[in-house]
Amino acid sequence: MIRVRVPATSANLGPGFDCMGVALTMYNEVCVEEIERGLEIVVLDDSKRFLPQDENNYVYAAMQKVFAEAGHSVKGLRLTLNSNIPVTRGLGSSSAGIVSGLVAANHMIGSPLPKERLLTLATELEGHPDNVAPALYGGFVVSVQDHKRVYACKNQISERLKFAAMIPNFYLQTKKSRSVLPRYTSYRNAVYNIGHASLLTAALISGDFDAITAGMRDRLHESYRLPYIKGGECIMKNAIRSGALGTYVSGAGPTIISVIDRNYNGFETSMNNLIRTRLNNWSFKLFSVDNGGAKIMEEN
Ligand code: HSE
Repeated sequence: MIRVRVPATSANLGPGFDCMGVALTMYNEVCVEEIERGLEIVVLDDSKRFLPQDENNYVYAAMQKVFAEAGHSVKGLRLTLNSNIPVTRGLGSSSAGIVSGLVAANHMIGSPLPKERLLTLATELEGHPDNVAPALYGGFVVSVQDHKRVYACKNQISERLKFAAMIPNFYLQTKKSRSVLPRYTSYRNAVYNIGHASLLTAALISGDFDAITAGMRDRLHESYRLPYIKGGECIMKNAIRSGALGTYVSGAGPTIISVIDRNYNGFETSMNNLIRTRLNNWSFKLFSVDNGGAKIMEEN
């Protein structure tokens, strides 16, 4: 039996659409056992309602990719899934499933595929690398797919930074959230986002808090998505007033994340007051950055 743990991830961080993501201290776990025949999938949490429990399951599909590439076959599999990452909320639950399947399968057959190859397979399955790269490597990762190759640069960011997630109890499917984006944008918007994404990257690595505030602004996707996130605009405005260094739509939404200085406690109190008085279908969770990425926790 192999047990794999994979972190939640938050993509885009404002201007880094499809290329920036960070791993957070919330985890899904998958246990894999080889059995005599067939496929058994046991889901231990609420995500049971959303996850296919047959060959279409993300974890299983990812495992099959590794076995096919390595020319390996197994008799049968039992997968036990324990998910803490809420589904379709912009916190990388599908990427965590894909990465856990790839890492478990590769480990099970003696790790024939290098990590870079697992990243390419994960990107093919997910469609873009921004969640799967930090799920695999941990930390703050800038990643780009270019001519079938995926480039991913992992960075550690200041330990003073915390990620405060405001998570609603409703869903926004990534497919829907991508379908509301325009097909074209202006040269000015492109230049704006290149500058801001670059500034944000440098600011997160160097710990320049003022530059994080400016660098987190986006003109490519957030304004199109916020109308589909009821309460999202209110959260964003209040987060800045409550002392967030920067606030953005996490991945395709609907979760909103604020980056805050860990030495500032007023933010949590203020956002919890807002949630209690005006937005009681939202909840507040505070995370640090996970710098380890996907991990084999146990094997026997
Ligand atoms: N970069 C992706 C998006 C993340 O914003 O649609 C969600 O998969």
